[in-house]
Amino acid sequence: MKLKNHRRAGWLRTAVSFAVVSVISAGAAAAGAASAPLPQMGFNNWNSTHCRDEFDEAMIRGVADKFISLGLKDAGYTYVNVDDCWANWQRDKDGALQANPKRFPGGIKALAAYIHEHGLKFGLYSSAGTSTCEPLQENRGFPGGLGHEKQDAATFASWDVDYLKYDNCNNNKVDAHKRYLDMANALRATHRQIFFSMCEWGENKPWLWAGKPPVSAQSWRTTGDITDTYASMLKIFKQNVVLDKYASLGHWNDPDMLEVGNGGMTDVEYQSHFSLWAIMASPLLVGTDIRKIKPDALQILLNKEVIAVDQDPLGVQGKQVRDADGIHVIVKPMKDGSRAVAVFNETDAAVDASVTAKEIGLKAAAKYKVRDLWQHSDASGDGSIKVNLPAHAIAMYRISNN
Ligand code: GLA
Repeated sequence: MKLKNHRRAGWLRTAVSFAVVSVISAGAAAAGAASAPLPQMGFNNWNSTHCRDEFDEAMIRGVADKFISLGLKDAGYTYVNVDDCWANWQRDKDGALQANPKRFPGGIKALAAYIHEHGLKFGLYSSAGTSTCEPLQENRGFPGGLGHEKQDAATFASWDVDYLKYDNCNNNKVDAHKRYLDMANALRATHRQIFFSMCEWGENKPWLWAGKPPVSAQSWRTTGDITDTYASMLKIFKQNVVLDKYASLGHWNDPDMLEVGNGGMTDVEYQSHFSLWAIMASPLLVGTDIRKIKPDALQILLNKEVIAVDQDPLGVQGKQVRDADGIHVIVKPMKDGSRAVAVFNETDAAVDASVTAKEIGLKAAAKYKVRDLWQHSDASGDGSIKVNLPAHAIAMYRISNN
């Protein structure tokens, strides 16, 4: 892996200035909502296991253990989330959801307690349909929440669930606004704080309504499912990056979970994936089995300077200011008045890229500080970024006038 030295040494020359402070005032509109959640950080098993047998209680407990020992908790990862295939095939005699006794013999409440003992939070999955997404087996699927919202939300609350990912399969074409509002209301009625992560794949333009009352979801998927390929990551990035104006503090666009560490992309591509998700203020949900993670992938996920861009309390999704010739420049205003900047080369060849201070939205200044968030180095310059980017690589900076 070549996280270091992938750029031509000594070629970085940057410039920024000051206008930092004035330009960001618009984003401060969100400032009132001090307790609004930042983009969710944590783990979800789906991208690494799908419905395979390795997804079980022992795995999820092992993941929680690793959150502590690998430093993920310290880096801000909080949620340990369980995806599809956790449920038993049938509801119980009272119509309540129950865990699959083979995969989760100890039950969901005990699992949640284990996660909570680690100082972490616990998330669960359901679908706003008659059954969940995993293909039916023996003509039956895992039961979904449609028409059972109140009972299921009460069950989740009784298990001390902190987060619900609510999918879109087998929805009988019932209006999406109604389906998601019914669950949002049911969750609120429990009086437990449950993060509502909508997963209807962008089919009903959720960015226009899901974050606002009456639904007020904390996040909504904007795209179909990611797969562990560069092409899939790139496609999803392009769909999500243009939706920046619809995200706000506490209400986030969700371009799906991370594939970092799953082996289908190079480390350079995973570094781009992680950086793009961070500058888009996306959920950072680790999608690899961290019990087996390789050091290079872990190093990407633990980059605290990049995580700080994602988690910035100003709560603004980065805006793409250039999309030309395979070069993308994305700028994210930060609460301290600095700006995060990502320069991404989607092409299959190395490129020399230049970005002016003006393009970043800054006035020319004599001197400004440019922090390289992957090299962890400082430079000062005159108002431009010049960088040599290998194929599929990204450079990421935080620029300030102090
Ligand atoms: C859908 C979702 C995925 C995952 C699967 C589970 O495809 O978009 O993220 O939850 O269902 O079956």
